[in-house]
Amino acid sequence: MDEKKNIEVEFVNKVYKYIRNGMSIETFMEKFHVSEIELYGIIELCRMYGKDVSLEKEKDTLVFRKSIKRKSPVSKLEFDSPKLNSNQICVISDTHFGSIHNQLHLVNEIYEEAYNRGIKTVLHVGDLVDGSYPNRPESPRQQFLHGFDQQASYVVDMYPEIEGITTYYILGSHDETHYKNGQATVNNWISRCREDMIYLGQDTGEINIDKVKIVLDHPGGGSAQSLSYRPQKRIEILESHTKPKILLIGHYHKSYAFSYRNVQCILVPALCDKTQFQQKKGLYNALGAYFLNIYSDSKGNIQYFEPEEIIFGKKDIWDETGKDRSKVKKLVMKNTVY
Ligand SMILES: [Fe+2]
Ligand SMILES: [Fe+2]
Repeated sequence: MDEKKNIEVEFVNKVYKYIRNGMSIETFMEKFHVSEIELYGIIELCRMYGKDVSLEKEKDTLVFRKSIKRKSPVSKLEFDSPKLNSNQICVISDTHFGSIHNQLHLVNEIYEEAYNRGIKTVLHVGDLVDGSYPNRPESPRQQFLHGFDQQASYVVDMYPEIEGITTYYILGSHDETHYKNGQATVNNWISRCREDMIYLGQDTGEINIDKVKIVLDHPGGGSAQSLSYRPQKRIEILESHTKPKILLIGHYHKSYAFSYRNVQCILVPALCDKTQFQQKKGLYNALGAYFLNIYSDSKGNIQYFEPEEIIFGKKDIWDETGKDRSKVKKLVMKNTVY
C-alpha cells in the first residue's frame, strides 16, 4: 500500500512540475500519452495529494490553472490606462537555512509559484541563514548545519535557481553572527557563486522598480508589542523626501500589511517554522510570503497596491521525525520543457 502511495506521489509531483499555467491539455496529453478521460483522473489524483490543478476554457481549448493556497481571494483589477506601470513581485524573509526549522520545500513552492506567474523579482528581507551562537548551549541541537562554511554553502548550493528570476536580498541579525564571530560574510560567497542573487546591504537595502522606491529592513531586537507599533515608529522618523513607497520588514516572523503616512508597509512572514525560543516565549510564528501587485505612475507614485498574503498551515510544515532532509532537492528551472 505504501509502495503504491509512493509511486502515486512521485507521479503527481512529476506531472505537477510539468504543468504550467495556460498550458493546453493537448500538450500534456501528448507528453504523457494519455487520453482526455485519463487526464481527468490525473487531475483528481493531483487534488487528492493537495496539488490544486484545474482546467479553464481559453479561446477554443482547455488550459491548466494551478495555484497554491491563498488566505483570501484576490480581486483582479484591470487597468486600461497605459500610463500606469504594473509590476508583480514576490517578497520572502527569514529562511534560516541551517536551522532544523528551515522549510526549504516551502521556499521552493513559493519560487515555483513566482515562476508560474511570470515574476522576475523576488526580495528577501534577511536571515537567509540561521547563524552561529557560541553563547547559546542549546543552539547546536536546533541546527542541522553548523558554522559559516556549512550554512553559506547550503545557500549557494540549495537556494532555488530559476532562469529569469533575480533575488535581491539583505542580510539580517542571524546572518550577521558569522561576521561577529569571525568576520565572515554570507553575501561574499553568494556574490561569487550565484549571479541570480544580488546583495543590497546588511540590515537595510533599497531597490527601485519603475521608480517605485522599496526599502527592505531587518531591524533586529525583540518582538514588538503590537504588529504595527515598531513599523510605525520606523516610518515616523523618516523625513518626507527619504520615505520609501513600500517598506518591507523582516525579522519579526509576523505577517501584516498596512498603509501609514503614504507608505505601504509589509511585515513579511518567515519561511521557517516556529523556533524553540518562540515556543518557550509563546510567540506566534507566521509562515508564508507575499505577492505584491504594484501599479505606479511615471514618477514612481503608487496608484494602486494589492498585497496578496500566502500563509502556510501546520500540514505544510516539514516534519523532522524519520525524514531525510537530503530528499528536499534544489529547485532548478530553465525555460525549457522537462
Ligand atoms: Fe529571523
Ligand atoms: Fe532576525
